[in-house]
Amino acid sequence: MENSQRTAVLTGATSEQGIGLAAARRLARQGWGVVVLDLDQQKSEAVAAQIAREFGVPAFGHAVDVAREQSVTLAQEAVARQVADLKLPPVGALANIAGITSPVGFLDTTVELWHEVMNVNATGTYLMTKAFLPGMLENKWGRVINMSSVSAQRGGGVFGKVPYSSAKAAILGFTKALAREISDGGVTVNAITPGAVDTNIRVGSTDEQEAAIAAGIPIGRTATTDEVASVISFLASEDASYLTGTTIDINGGSHMH
Ligand SMILES: NC(=O)c1ccc[n+]([C@@H]2O[C@H](COP(=O)([O-])OP(=O)(O)OC[C@H]3O[C@@H](n4cnc5c(N)ncnc54)[C@H](O)[C@@H]3O)[C@@H](O)[C@H]2O)c1
Repeated sequence: MENSQRTAVLTGATSEQGIGLAAARRLARQGWGVVVLDLDQQKSEAVAAQIAREFGVPAFGHAVDVAREQSVTLAQEAVARQVADLKLPPVGALANIAGITSPVGFLDTTVELWHEVMNVNATGTYLMTKAFLPGMLENKWGRVINMSSVSAQRGGGVFGKVPYSSAKAAILGFTKALAREISDGGVTVNAITPGAVDTNIRVGSTDEQEAAIAAGIPIGRTATTDEVASVISFLASEDASYLTGTTIDINGGSHMH
């Protein structure tokens, strides 16, 4: 089936220098219909409109707080209405990209911070997948792509600390267990584990911290968002049909198994 006959839903896709927007643009360039979901309604709509103009694909923007079930339900229903009205092709891929990090050292964390980081990253991935998976299973084709991090594999060491590594590790367990449970229904579930990427997520990191991060990467620099987006678009493609429950590293060699 052509990409133009499917829609990719992406969370966390309005941040100007973010991975989500780079992935949305790349998928649109390949012909996918695109749904942009992020915290702000107007920004989500504006980014979708820009993508539609630039790439000539159907695109729809809607607010979502991935950590809140009611908000996820409203977003899913809004997307379903667009599909029912033939304004968007059926949903064929879900990229759970929304995430937050935290550099707070363990003894200074609070349970509120723990919940916040777990809720956006891990619970958000759970809620979004629960909402969009039934439609993909019904169509017997789908791709769920979950954003983990090298922090889950090497125990932080980039910027985010214990709550972040824990949440991103939860996403790896989620990915594997769900892949095992449902992949004979035509839907694959995979995760990616980027190392440091050139985005705004490490707000407040100093030049020294950024230099130390780059020094620990054999390729010698952080990844561009488009390099990460290329892995997301590969996992969304027909070519990735035999990958499920897997984790694709994209870390410039900073972590090798
Ligand atoms: N940048 C890196 O170095 C790096 C490395 C590994 C993994 N990641 C992961 O990649 C993903 C994207 O990060 P980024 O670097 O592009 O960061 P970013 O801060 O630029 O983008 C994150 C996006 O998520 C959105 N978001 C935050 N909370 C949300 C919520 N509750 N509901 C909906 N949307 C929400 C933000 O509005 C923003 O658009 C995150 O999951 C992050 O943990 C980033």
